[in-house]
Amino acid sequence: MCGIVGYVGNNAVKDVLLEGLQRLEYRGYDSSGMAFVGAHQTQVYRACGKLDNLRKILENAHTESSFQGIGHIRWATHGAATESNAHPHRSTDGKISLVHNGIIENYQALKEELQAQGFCFQSQTDTETAVYLIEREYQKYQSLEKAVIAAVQYLKGAFAFCIMHQDEPDKIIAVRKNAPLVIGLGKNGNMVASDIPALIGFVDRIVYLQDNEFAVLHQKDVSFYDFDGHSLLKSPEPLALEAEQISKGHYAHYMLKEIHEQPDILRRLLSFYMPDGQNICLNGIDAKKMLRNIEQIEIVACGTSYNAGLAAKNVIEKLTDIPVRVEAASEYIYQKQLTNAQTLVLGISQSGETADTITALKQARLKNAQILVLTNREDSSIVQCADAILPLKAGIEVSVAATKSYTAQLVVLYLFAFKLAEVLGVANAETNYLKHALFELPVQMEQVLSAEKALEEVSALYASYSDFVFIGRGISYAGVLEGALKLKEISYINANAYMAGELKHGPIALIDENMPCVAILIKNSSTFDKIISNCEEIKARHGKLIGLVSDETYQNKLFDNLIRIPNVCEELSPLLTAPVLQLLAYHIALKLGREVDKPRNLAKSVTVE
Ligand code: M6R
Repeated sequence: MCGIVGYVGNNAVKDVLLEGLQRLEYRGYDSSGMAFVGAHQTQVYRACGKLDNLRKILENAHTESSFQGIGHIRWATHGAATESNAHPHRSTDGKISLVHNGIIENYQALKEELQAQGFCFQSQTDTETAVYLIEREYQKYQSLEKAVIAAVQYLKGAFAFCIMHQDEPDKIIAVRKNAPLVIGLGKNGNMVASDIPALIGFVDRIVYLQDNEFAVLHQKDVSFYDFDGHSLLKSPEPLALEAEQISKGHYAHYMLKEIHEQPDILRRLLSFYMPDGQNICLNGIDAKKMLRNIEQIEIVACGTSYNAGLAAKNVIEKLTDIPVRVEAASEYIYQKQLTNAQTLVLGISQSGETADTITALKQARLKNAQILVLTNREDSSIVQCADAILPLKAGIEVSVAATKSYTAQLVVLYLFAFKLAEVLGVANAETNYLKHALFELPVQMEQVLSAEKALEEVSALYASYSDFVFIGRGISYAGVLEGALKLKEISYINANAYMAGELKHGPIALIDENMPCVAILIKNSSTFDKIISNCEEIKARHGKLIGLVSDETYQNKLFDNLIRIPNVCEELSPLLTAPVLQLLAYHIALKLGREVDKPRNLAKSVTVE
């Protein structure tokens, strides 16, 4: 959470930083700020709320004589979203400016020490301790590099910093420990950012900074060091992404664009993992070696990635008889772990930066488990925790609400399950059927998406309700959990998912004419009739019923609104119910005038535990 960016070069610094921060806005939008070092002074601008507020302030700022600057977009952790807590923070003499992503865990002790030494704090942030520490060390060393090296030795926790000093122009120091940072090298200057999108179009080569390293950026060159000050040799790699890949295209929102990208991502995944349409190749992994001796699987993930894991549990257990435990990473960390050397731990993370998931995997590693990571960002921090990676190939997901990464996770998890069954010698006709049925899903998903207008009309009927219930059974329970999460995170409607059979054990008390209930019913599933009964029970209590039904022969006498989805087997059905529920959530949020791509209080990469 939080995004940082720095640029030293001969393009208009303000514009480069604004563009960079805009592309990092998915990391937070509580406040933003920038600092520019010019010939005689450092100018700092900060604003609460969205980046547009800073943009307005900067319209009247004269930064033309500055060739270097740093910027920040904040997701508040320590201290409210006020201007005084916004970054950049400055030293008491105003010469050092610093932006930070991460959390300095020992900031309280450091603050007391610095206060005793006369430093007067202006904010409630943990970050301010870092800037004063550097100022203190600068007084000793009179060199920004040396002051930074000395200061980081005191810091515990996670930090990515960009730092400038008024008396050392043509220099930005970028520091990394447990928070991502990537350096960009270009013809018109050099850049640093929390994530690649900020760099696209400005630089042509990149270097990923590793933990306990820092880079010194000048307009003409960049040098790299470890925290002991030893020089490091790095080989830049080309930055292959184009600006178009992070644009909204003709869509009103990234979320809508990303929903519509799903069929093509499915096709891409199928040809990546099954190039000949028959044999599954898990990204070059020696599947026999890795999977043959496993006795249990643990899936650790958060949010939508957790929901994908829960869906996969149904399929993996059914096809392989291997027990699967799915844990929210934030809980796994604090529980008694049954993980051992015969455990395969699947870590799932779109961003690859989720702190809880990374910590959980580090703990699993200590138990000698094998670790397989599914991620959409092969360049992310989680990769360092993995024995092997299964890429999601979904392309950069900008909208805070995960959509295309969810269905990509499902597909990769299905393929993993099929491969596991094959390696264990238990693959049967059903495994084969599912493997081939997957190829029909892109077209079926297109069918679902082509009914968007009808879904928009249904959304209009329900946008004014303040609560929703979602019900499903088996794998569809995982599906409704995800549907409810989508709705609540972008519309702020209170939406709860229940196992349909559990309804009468309590939640049915919620049902009345003001409670819309969304139910998933899949033809030929063992619980179809049971869910119909659950829906009858809701109807009898005057609940409003919206049914997602995959049976084309079903004669509706029950649902207020029936949304038909193509015929699909139960195991693969989440791939078709997900886009429906995503579009319902999207259109309800739109009707309510919500900021669909940037819902309040959220950030896309949750880099704090
Ligand atoms: O990047 P990750 O998959 O690790 O992120 C996990 C969750 O933070 C994420 O899925 C979150 O729940 C999304 N906002 C859901 O749309």
